[in-house]
Amino acid sequence: MKDRLEAIAAEGRQALLAAAGESDLQQARVRYLGKKGELTALMKGLGSVPPEERPGVGALLNQLKDELEVLFQSRLVKVREDDIRMRLEREKIDVTLPGRARFTGSKHPITLVTEEICAIFSALGFGVAEGPEVEKDFFNFEALNFPKDHPARDMQDTFFVSEDVLLRTHTSPVQVRTMLQHAPPVRVVAPGTVYRRDSDITHSPMFHQIEGFLVDRHVTFGDLKGILTAFISQYFGRGVGVRFRPSFFPFTEPSAEVDIQCVICKGSGCRVCKGSGWLEILGSGMIDPEVFKSVNYDPAVYSGFAFGMGIERIAMLRYGVNDLRLFFENDVRFLRQF
Ligand code: PHE
Repeated sequence: MKDRLEAIAAEGRQALLAAAGESDLQQARVRYLGKKGELTALMKGLGSVPPEERPGVGALLNQLKDELEVLFQSRLVKVREDDIRMRLEREKIDVTLPGRARFTGSKHPITLVTEEICAIFSALGFGVAEGPEVEKDFFNFEALNFPKDHPARDMQDTFFVSEDVLLRTHTSPVQVRTMLQHAPPVRVVAPGTVYRRDSDITHSPMFHQIEGFLVDRHVTFGDLKGILTAFISQYFGRGVGVRFRPSFFPFTEPSAEVDIQCVICKGSGCRVCKGSGWLEILGSGMIDPEVFKSVNYDPAVYSGFAFGMGIERIAMLRYGVNDLRLFFENDVRFLRQF
């Protein structure tokens, strides 16, 4: 019996040593040490050994099993190491090869400017509101004191969905929507996309505006000038010249267009400002009592001002961009600079 044991153990040792990879090794272990393995089978046959020999044979059996188990574990470590070494050699990974750069996106310049302007006005106590781009004639024109067939509508020709529904031509309808929903006082800026039938290097049929308005008791034109001057010096820098020029809008009276000193030539005259030294950046004025009537605010008690600026215009001045269409071509060589 002892001889047979030794013989099988020697075979097992041989098989473990000869195994070339992990799966060979596992198979050898099952064959000799597994539940149905050869050594286990001998253990079951221990009953047929004469009683006086049993303890000796049993001890030997256990000793050989332990020995094979230890051998198996050390071979396992070895074949795994060999395997990794072989794969490393075969795959030849070049760790010096430069990685492929991932392209990180960035915010669109129009978004950046919108966020900056909103941040300045929220520091001045303004909330932010939005309105629909597909708008009713009532909000875009009628309630803003543009009667049907009034020539003031010609300057804001747009895309009509039906007779009473259109793509909004400005963000001013948000004034009407906000005032209909909130009793005064209100202080709001409203950024958004607007549409007009216009297209050249300084006009796009789709562009962006930011509206601002404030209504309370005793609001004066001095408040309008103060807030807009504060905004301009924050956004374009302290000391930039500001000019208020009389103008006309159906929904403000009096109305003013606001110019800043040309940021390119600093006022001496250049191509961008067409030699005038000034650049128009927004329209503004005191809200017309007719508008208050259509939103049920009492014009005898409340007054307010409003302004609207073109975001592309501001972005062009801010970043020195000379063609408005660049903002909408989505050329990454342009966009990745922001
Ligand atoms: N909505 C006007 C425009 O688009 C600008 C404006 C807004 C003027 C508010 C006065 C007050 O031309």
